[in-house]
Amino acid sequence: MAVRVPVLVAVAWPYASGSRHLGHLAGAYLPADVYARYQRLAGNDVLMVSGSDVHGTPITVRADAEGVTPSEIVERYHSEFCDQWEMLGISWDLYTTTGTRNHAEVTQDMFLVQLKNGHIDKRVSEQFYDPVGERFLPDRYIEGTCPRCGYGAARGDQCEHCGSTLDATDLIEPRSRISGAVPELRPTEHFYYRYSDFTERVADWLKTRRGWRPHVLNSSFGWTNEGLKDRAITRDLDWGVELPVDDLGEEKRIYVWYDAVIGYLSASKEWAARQGDPDAWKRWWHNDESRHLYFVGKDNIPFHAMLWPAQLMGYGGLHLPDNVPANQYVTFSGAKMAAGRGVGLAIGEGLRLFEPDALRYALAAALPEHADTEVSIEEIARRINDELVATWGNLVNRVLSLAQSALGGAVPKVGERHSSDAALLSAADDALREEADCIERVELRAGLRCAMEAAARVNAYLNSNEPWKLASADPDRAAAVLVTALEAMAGVRTGLAPYLPFSTAALDDLFGPVERWERPAVPPGTRLPKAEPLFAKVDLDAMDLAGDGAEPD
Ligand code: MF3
Ligand code: ZN
Repeated sequence: MAVRVPVLVAVAWPYASGSRHLGHLAGAYLPADVYARYQRLAGNDVLMVSGSDVHGTPITVRADAEGVTPSEIVERYHSEFCDQWEMLGISWDLYTTTGTRNHAEVTQDMFLVQLKNGHIDKRVSEQFYDPVGERFLPDRYIEGTCPRCGYGAARGDQCEHCGSTLDATDLIEPRSRISGAVPELRPTEHFYYRYSDFTERVADWLKTRRGWRPHVLNSSFGWTNEGLKDRAITRDLDWGVELPVDDLGEEKRIYVWYDAVIGYLSASKEWAARQGDPDAWKRWWHNDESRHLYFVGKDNIPFHAMLWPAQLMGYGGLHLPDNVPANQYVTFSGAKMAAGRGVGLAIGEGLRLFEPDALRYALAAALPEHADTEVSIEEIARRINDELVATWGNLVNRVLSLAQSALGGAVPKVGERHSSDAALLSAADDALREEADCIERVELRAGLRCAMEAAARVNAYLNSNEPWKLASADPDRAAAVLVTALEAMAGVRTGLAPYLPFSTAALDDLFGPVERWERPAVPPGTRLPKAEPLFAKVDLDAMDLAGDGAEPD
């Protein structure tokens, strides 16, 4: 028996500060889910974790703007996310939040160990203070011009235009988002993580990474060549994980980015505790043989390819990332719909307009794995109708109705097969192998193409064998063709299962649940269910397209 590899599927933690867009879905959640579902079928032990990022200035800025508490914002969006993951079939082993007791404890433990190891120190620095609002202005309370690319609305923590991580004091012409005032610098004391201690180790480690996307490696080496910068890991905020030491007084909290990435570890521990096996997380984290993949959007690359590895190195003994298959952006009809200021289609809107599997299909076929990718409602509808329905939906329908009328209620024993039958089945097996290679390399778009080409081959086989014409003249041959088509379809359906969990499960009565990465047998006696369409055709003209765009962060 093959060894079961522990695979950690770590997925970016969405800020519970506003509705997420189809760009986030295509950027992180859908690819992670496809990968996790495939790995489970391949017989590996998947632990797929994430949760809502409930701290940081995205949350408090939003709460201030609405005049409500941060917890109200967090509860609203966390529950929206949980509902949407369920509707979309995102197969978490645990989806939690950074607001748990457990997460605070794991974060505080890491902090204390790194402090003891000398990788955290305390410094007084000048930070922006709003003289009108009478408070310090961490991160997103400040806006200004990016010193790297000149983008005019860069935030105090990161320029979302060029992706650089920033200190607010780097911004040109900074202004307060609370009062619009020009902020002044005042001294304040904070803990710093000495990321610069790790520049060389991170660079050397990056050189040993294999199979990473070129754009991820290139931007990472760009940053290590410049040298990692020490960063403050506390803020003048009263919302966030509390410090485990009281040197700085009551008014400071651990900074969201330092703690959010720790979520991967804290969620793994929470999952283990919930299993009733509190040490179970160690199989993924204290194990050289495990595989850790981080599914994130491109603005998250520096945090996952450098800063989190540097934090892990400063703690010691924990498994480092094996791949960060970050995606580029999805642009929606020209307007960026990934995080930040761009306007796109909210996930809730996508779910209102399209069936979950149909939406998953259209996005998986357009994943921005190597370049920014443009998507529109029309393009989603076209892919659903002309690809998903035309190729796979119609195939299932056609074979099941033909089988019903030619074979009766069950699969018969068939005699002689032709070489074209064997060729179709071996092509279906090859397609599963090729698709597996693609998914292992996190080329999920190409993986889906393998499965769809396999479906197209079954259609072509039917067209050339024309079982509907054979039914009266040569019923045995008609039966052999239809059974062969059913057997090939069973393989195609396995290949589609990671992408289309709902509609492939609708065939459980016929083929049994998809449990392994294989083309299952369709033995004589298998009951043939009535043909029911797997998907509805999309009629754009009948749709109410006037729904909400997504909100900025
Ligand atoms: N909440 C942040 C974002 O949406 C961080 C996500 S990934 C994390 O960009 F691991 F750092 F949480
Ligand atoms: Zn920039």
